Amino acid sequence: MKHSIEGFSKLTKAEKVDWITKNHFTHPEEAKTLLASYWNKNVELQKRHDEFIENTLTNFYLPLGVAPNFIINGKGYTLPLVIEESSVVAAAGNAAKFWSQRGGFTAKVLSTEKVGQIHFFYKGSVASLSAFVSTHTAQWLESVREITGKMESRGGGIQSLTLVDKTVDLPHYFQLHLTFSTVDAMGANFINSCLEHIAKSVERSVTNEPAILQAGGIEIVLCILSNYVPDCLVHAQVSCSVEDLGKHDQMEAIAFAEKMVQAVAIAKVEPYRAVTHNKGIMNGVDAIVIATGNDFRAIEAGVHAFASRSGHYTSLSEATINNGQFTMELTLPLAVGTVGGLTSLHPMVKWSLELLGNPNAEELMKIIAVAGLAQNFAALRSLVTSGIQKGHMKMHLLNILNQFGASEQQKESALYYFKTNTVSVQAVRLFLENYTA
Ligand code: MEV
Repeated sequence: MKHSIEGFSKLTKAEKVDWITKNHFTHPEEAKTLLASYWNKNVELQKRHDEFIENTLTNFYLPLGVAPNFIINGKGYTLPLVIEESSVVAAAGNAAKFWSQRGGFTAKVLSTEKVGQIHFFYKGSVASLSAFVSTHTAQWLESVREITGKMESRGGGIQSLTLVDKTVDLPHYFQLHLTFSTVDAMGANFINSCLEHIAKSVERSVTNEPAILQAGGIEIVLCILSNYVPDCLVHAQVSCSVEDLGKHDQMEAIAFAEKMVQAVAIAKVEPYRAVTHNKGIMNGVDAIVIATGNDFRAIEAGVHAFASRSGHYTSLSEATINNGQFTMELTLPLAVGTVGGLTSLHPMVKWSLELLGNPNAEELMKIIAVAGLAQNFAALRSLVTSGIQKGHMKMHLLNILNQFGASEQQKESALYYFKTNTVSVQAVRLFLENYTA
């Protein structure tokens, strides 16, 4: 077995597959057949996938499910959800149906500001640096017009450029903190291109600035957008009278509403619970973020930083009862795009966007926040009533049956049997052992 190779990226796909399967698998032919079975027969489509990343050997599928019956600000939607976890799509569909009979979801974009920073070190006087930045800001912004022009014609561009003194946190550390509007694009490439271009202009300006040069100049360390976007916020909400919540699993409406409020109160003060509570929200968020070709790592990083903004990791959602009215709400930082990136390249992303009615970025922010809130409502509803396992294990039943290699006939009969019996791995094992056709 060889584990290292020179020039792997230069090999053809067939050569890469050969080398990998020969050197890493006990049964190379089987490993190769599996890879081939996941290639798309459509040569053009496979080429598109191959070119998304480097060293592509095949595709890695995730299921795409849909959750109909979402009403958001009075408009109907069917949500595309890409996720491997059973129950999430069913939970979304159930929550959508439940709230569609109670006025639906409302959602509002609160702000759309994106951020990028140029991080640098400087050892001289802050007053000289401040004067240098003020004198040159307009010129730096002008120097980047060739990049910002198109974005400006769409209503976006650079909104501000500010010098930030971070020397209290780290000696000699400063930033140029820039804010952007990127309209319907997520904007990562646009922001990073602007930052790198401005950084070069800054370096050029320093060469004519004796006060800065005497202090040793400016040492730019890096320029990059920030995935922390606490001013790119969307708010989603559901509300109805406590009475309208109805009975849940033998629990009266008021008891149910109070339990929901208590569940959120626990997630507000207890990080162990808050992380899982927020993970449930992200089940809905990530599933749409992936379906629409957005960057789920960026969203995850930004959302969890936002959940810690007070210095204490806490619940992203709120639940209240006020004057007999039950309300659940969620505010999320979401920097997403509906143009650029994968949106016009990945056929299933295009399909998902069309399913959503080709929303602009703000509408997509609302849809994603609603999906998060729906998941949170559904998860808490199960947790405070029957417990999560009842529904979860029912949905997981097919996975367990597949793990045991059950036949189609066994599956059919198991689905019937477990309608009225509790699902567990052990119970499924016993069912299959005792199965007679
Ligand atoms: C599981 O994927 C998500 C939950 O754990 C969320 C929660 O506990 O609120 C059910």
